[in-house]
Amino acid sequence: QDLLEKELPDAEVFVVSNREPYIHNRVGDRIVVQRPASGLVSALEPVMRACGGVWVAHGSGSADRETVDAEDHVAVPPGKPAYRLRRVWISDEEQEGYYYGLANEGLWPLCHLAYVRPIFREADWQHYVAVNQRFADAVVREATRPDPVIMVQDYHFALLPRMIREQLPKATILTFWHIPWPNAEAFGICPWKEEIIAGLLGSTVLGFHTQAHCNNFFETVDRFMESRIDRDHRSVVFGGEETMVRPYPISIEWPPAALASQQPVEVCRAAVRERFGLPAEMRIGVGIERFDYTKGILDRLQAIDELLTRQPEWKGRFTFLQIVAPTRSKLASYTALQAEAIRITEEVNARHGREGYQPIHLVIRHHEPDEVYELFRAADVCVVSSLHDGMNLVAKEFVAARDDEQGALVLSRFAGASSELSEALIINPYDVQGMAEALGRALVMREDEQRERMRLMRAHVRERNVYRWAGQILLDASRLRKRQRVQEFE
Ligand code: F6P
Repeated sequence: QDLLEKELPDAEVFVVSNREPYIHNRVGDRIVVQRPASGLVSALEPVMRACGGVWVAHGSGSADRETVDAEDHVAVPPGKPAYRLRRVWISDEEQEGYYYGLANEGLWPLCHLAYVRPIFREADWQHYVAVNQRFADAVVREATRPDPVIMVQDYHFALLPRMIREQLPKATILTFWHIPWPNAEAFGICPWKEEIIAGLLGSTVLGFHTQAHCNNFFETVDRFMESRIDRDHRSVVFGGEETMVRPYPISIEWPPAALASQQPVEVCRAAVRERFGLPAEMRIGVGIERFDYTKGILDRLQAIDELLTRQPEWKGRFTFLQIVAPTRSKLASYTALQAEAIRITEEVNARHGREGYQPIHLVIRHHEPDEVYELFRAADVCVVSSLHDGMNLVAKEFVAARDDEQGALVLSRFAGASSELSEALIINPYDVQGMAEALGRALVMREDEQRERMRLMRAHVRERNVYRWAGQILLDASRLRKRQRVQEFE
C-alpha cells in the first residue's frame, strides 16, 4: 500500500482474473463462501486486502448465478470490505469455448510440457475473443480515471491488455502469466500465436515466474513478430510501445492467515490421525493439489508403490494422504486422470495393504485453507511432483505451515519453486525409482537436518513473500512510466 502511494499516487487498482477470490454458493437459505483451490487466489487475495480496489472476475458460484442480470458488486473478504468484487457473467456456451476449450484444452497443454496434445477449435477462439472483450469493457466501465493500475492475471486473458490499452491508453497494465511459457517451436503450433503475443504486448509490464520463461517469450516474439527486443532493458518494443518483460517469482503472504488459527503441531497430528484412523507411530506423507495431469500425481502414486516394494519395512508404518480438489472435470484428459489415479490407488492398496493398514488415502474433495494447513502440519513429508509447473505455491505453503521447523519437502525440479527452495529434496518426477528413493530418504531424515533445511526455506519464503512480488512489479511499472515521460520530452 505504501509503495503504491509513493510510486503510483492516487492509483485506482484493479485485478482481473477468471477465478473469483470467494465463490458464493447457496446452501438452503444461506450464502456460503468458499475459497477456490487456486495458487493465483492464494497469492493475490492478500495483496488486494492490503491495497483495496476492485477485483473483476467471472461469477461462478450457485448464488452468483441467481443475480445474473444484476450489475452488483460484493464487498470482500466477507464481513471485512477491503476491496470490491465485480462479477462478469458469461453464458454456459461461452464458458465451454473460452474456459474449457481455448484456455484449458488449448493454451494449458500448449504451455505445460506434460505430453497432452493441445486442441484448437475456431469456435473456442471466437468465444475467447468475445469473453476477453467483455472483461475489457467491464474494467473500462469501472474505471473512474484515465490512468488506472490494472493487474491482468493469467492465460485466460492474453488479449485483454491490448483491448484495455485501446480504450485507456494511459493505463498501467501489469500482466502476470501464471503458467510456464514454452519455447518458440512449441508455441508456434498455436494458430493464433500472433494475436496472443500482440495482446500481451499491450501490457506495460509482462511478468513470468522465471528468467527461463522470459527467455522463451523473447525467443517467441523474435520468431513471429515484427518488433524490437531490447535485451539490456529486458523489454520489447512493438507498434511503437514498450513492454517490460521480467521474472517475478510469485509467492504467498507471510505470515499466512491460515496459520493464525492452527493448533500446535502435535494437536494437528492427533486430529489427522484420528480422522484417517492411523495409529500413533504411523509416518504421514501428504500431497495436496488440484486434480490436474500436470501435477505428476500418477507418477507419485507409482513411487509410493516402488518404495513399499523395495523397502517393505515401511509397510504398516507409512501412509500417504493424497488430497485432490476436483477441477475442469468436464474435460476428457481430467476424467481419464481421475479414473487412473483411483485404479492405481486401489492396486497399490491391494498389493501392500492389509487389515487396518491402507497405504494410500485418496480424498477427492475441496479443502479450505485451514484444513490444508492442518494436514501440512501433521505431515512428516510433503511431495510436490509436478511434471511442469509455473511456480507451485503448495511447496511454499508447506514450508510456511511448519513453524516447528520440521518436515521434509520432496520437490520436482520442473516446478518453478525448485529454483528457490533448493534445500528441498529435488527430484525428477519422470524417474519413479529416484522419487521413491527421495521419499525413503525423507522418511529417515534426522531432525537436525530437517530443521536446517526448513529454516533456510522458511527464511527465503518469509523474505520473498507475495507483497514483495507485487511491490517489485509496481516499482518496475512506475520506473517505466517515468522513463516514458522523459522520452516524451525528446
Ligand atoms: O496454475 C495456473 C492457474 O491459473 C493458477 O493460477 C490457478 O491456481 C489455477 O490455474 C486455477 O485453475 P482453475 O481456475 O481452472 O481451477
